[in-house]
Amino acid sequence: MRKLMTSTAMAALALSGLAMTGLTTTAAAADKEVQMLHWWTSGGEAAALNVLKQDLAKEGFGWKDVPVAGGGGDAAMTALKAMVAAGNYPTASQMLGYTVLDYAQAGVMGDLTETAKKEGWDKSVPAALQKFSVYEGKWVAAPVNVHSVNWLWINKAVMDKIGGKQPKTFDDLIALLDKAKAAGVTPLALGGQSWQEATMFDSIVESTGGPEFYKKAFNDLDEASLKSDTMKKSFDNLARIVKYVDPNYSGRDWNLATAMVIKGEALVQVMGDWAKGEFVAAKKKPDTDFLCYRFPGTEGSVIYNSDMFGMFNVPADRKAAQVALATATLSKSFQSAFNVVKGSVPARTDVPDTAFDACGKKGIADLKAANEKGTLFGSLAQGYGAPPAIANAYKDVVSKFVHGQIKTSEEAVTQLVQAIDDAR
Ligand code: GAL
Repeated sequence: MRKLMTSTAMAALALSGLAMTGLTTTAAAADKEVQMLHWWTSGGEAAALNVLKQDLAKEGFGWKDVPVAGGGGDAAMTALKAMVAAGNYPTASQMLGYTVLDYAQAGVMGDLTETAKKEGWDKSVPAALQKFSVYEGKWVAAPVNVHSVNWLWINKAVMDKIGGKQPKTFDDLIALLDKAKAAGVTPLALGGQSWQEATMFDSIVESTGGPEFYKKAFNDLDEASLKSDTMKKSFDNLARIVKYVDPNYSGRDWNLATAMVIKGEALVQVMGDWAKGEFVAAKKKPDTDFLCYRFPGTEGSVIYNSDMFGMFNVPADRKAAQVALATATLSKSFQSAFNVVKGSVPARTDVPDTAFDACGKKGIADLKAANEKGTLFGSLAQGYGAPPAIANAYKDVVSKFVHGQIKTSEEAVTQLVQAIDDAR
């Protein structure tokens, strides 16, 4: 209940902000303008978004920014819901997976199929993304990127100082965290917000149970897997790893946790590769300043999400701006330039990896391999495992466990099964 009130309050705030910035502008201004709702407010995210603003400016389109801060987008999605309910559609909104399908089903999305045909999206966008950007045969969203969550981001100088090496198993990772602790460095940089905790737990579940288990539990929502001993062991492992955070982790934003690693105040963050956008913005280089390893036990698979620009059914005079946005978003040059800065990899299969750093090249190669091997899985925490109601129930249970409101792994499993059943 408290969470609901907070989100509602946030939506009200966001809306009053929109009123002040005059989102409902006159038709004359609006037809040359892209109104974009998003949660890209960190340094790395804002730098990436600038690439798009500049591309659109070159085409003669203005930008009406509708930012709603809060990593993972929970607050942004509450604000969007209120806007759509008021009939106040942005040109497009950043969205994740199942949320796109929810809005499409509600009948409020536009139809970009003509643009998609002209640009050949059917051939260049991977099927895993088309599943969420095409609804009943119509393109309703433009995928911007592919992120993955099963990464470790490590400060290289701290790693050298403690004589650490790449952990291959979950136990290796715990041993590495022990070394950092002994050296007086915060071992694990975490922000105690439910979406960050659940994003980390996605990796722990695959590490604990293997790829097939992850898929059955978190993509197929197989009840036997959800209530299994392996899930219980996953919570045991979560309990083990959260012992390595600093006392101030509660409520910390994800990018502040990344900054702890960048500055060498902490050894490692478990986070999606948007964290790399922060390293890039701070002018840090892979292998010199930081290391990107797959979360131990998940090498060979990719737990993904993809930012999509969900395209709303805007009035005719605003469609040209929407088409320009969609075309720019999926152009090959933008896909390279944007994703180099954002930390993600292209949402098209035909973009060369030349401009990407070592972590980006690995991300691109991993995605291709996982796609071929059938080890590309949707992130439950990041909107690609199940519809939003289920993902929210999941985040809630994980967070209650981390913060001690659920005391044992048995209880966590029971509550997880119950919460997912209630949300189905
Ligand atoms: C994710 C999103 C990323 C990044 C991250 C933190 O949900 O896919 O692009 O923005 O949140 O804000």
